[in-house]
Amino acid sequence: MNLGLTRPYLITRPEHVQHVLRDNAANYPRRGMMWKPLTRLVGEIAGEGPEWALNRGIFQKLLSGPNIAKVTDELARTIVEGVDDLAERTPPGQPVDAQTELTRIVQRAVIRAFFGNRIPLSEADHLADAIRTATRSMGARMLLPFVPLSVPLPGDRAFQRSVQAVDDVILPLVREARRGEVFDRDIVSMLIGTHDEQGRSLDDQQVRDGVVAMFTAGTETTATALVWLCVVLNSQPEIAARLRAEIDGVLGSDHPTRAHLPELRYTKMVMQELMRVYSIGWIIPRTSVADDVIDGVRIRGGNTVLISPYLTHRLPDVWPRPEVFDPERFSPARSKSRHRFAYMAFGAGPHQCVGTLFFTIEAQLIAATMLQRFRPVVLGDGPVEPQVRLTLIPRERVEMVLEPVGSR
Ligand code: HEM
Repeated sequence: MNLGLTRPYLITRPEHVQHVLRDNAANYPRRGMMWKPLTRLVGEIAGEGPEWALNRGIFQKLLSGPNIAKVTDELARTIVEGVDDLAERTPPGQPVDAQTELTRIVQRAVIRAFFGNRIPLSEADHLADAIRTATRSMGARMLLPFVPLSVPLPGDRAFQRSVQAVDDVILPLVREARRGEVFDRDIVSMLIGTHDEQGRSLDDQQVRDGVVAMFTAGTETTATALVWLCVVLNSQPEIAARLRAEIDGVLGSDHPTRAHLPELRYTKMVMQELMRVYSIGWIIPRTSVADDVIDGVRIRGGNTVLISPYLTHRLPDVWPRPEVFDPERFSPARSKSRHRFAYMAFGAGPHQCVGTLFFTIEAQLIAATMLQRFRPVVLGDGPVEPQVRLTLIPRERVEMVLEPVGSR
């Protein structure tokens, strides 16, 4: 692709994606585009070195199946609390900002499940705002990673201020945690108790990096996915009706629990299709180290290689009628014949998302809890278009009214 100042390779075919992300992953590390600016927010975890490996191990342990099974019911209760809180604060018919409110529900759940409740909810709003501004002001640095930091680019000031705001919340919390109690399943305690290969414990900055990485990866992505869910349900009444019928049939008037999840099959398929069409992680950049050949095309060492789930998820021979939102694509029968790398909303290979299972469960629980009580009506005319930042976000602020179910 000719992007003017750079000429990255764009890789879209599933078999080529497999080559770059898995089979020859050692030749395609995370460097340069996106990763360089991201390290300024979350530290070396956004790279490839020992700090990444150490943190990946911790995140994997925290987000493992058995650990998530232990927290699912508490997560479900926290989500009900979050939705209750939203209902109490919102007079009937009053529009709410979808991203802000869904972020509140998600972060309350994440803080309870994995942060030992260490971040007060009042500070969490602040933190979420700062992370959102930081991740949305990296556009120029993402496209121009070779420009030195000493040369100012648009977005730099907002980014710096946001990183400072993140530090102001997280660093005191890390220092406090060192003196205080150790909790189970708490990322802060786990990072503080970790030693690197030389047996050294992590310093405050390294613990801060792990905490910010986990919070950034685990909140903004999920909240944005749920905003897209509201947008889709608003424009696809048949899918919304089928989803609601499943939720009502499975839950009745009960709150969702872990036991309900296997029965919320259509809900899960809707979320999978949502992540196909609105691939929040729309781009996965890599840098080639040595020369390579992919399907007869020479890839020169030192070049940027772009993988885009957004584009691969729209290849018409792999996904017939790609523009149609059709959760049935993810029925077990239709999923079977697809190339494994045709769907990579959560990446693949050594960096594959460690939060996939957690996201799936959390999103099912939030969708079920919200839709059991409300019909989200998105305000404004016309479709809500996507916009690319670090993640795929709606171009405009999404405002919605939460109509109580049964009021129509
Ligand atoms: C809509 C939800 C989500 C999407 C679309 C998503 C997408 C992704 C993608 C595409 C990657 C791969 C990056 C690469 O190959 O370089 C990734 C990595 C990662 N994700 Fe997620 N993610 C989501 C939710 C979560 C959640 C809920 C958590 C944690 C609770 C999480 C934690 C992580 C971490 C720590 C990594 C880095 C893994 C590594 O570099 O080894 N993600 N995610």
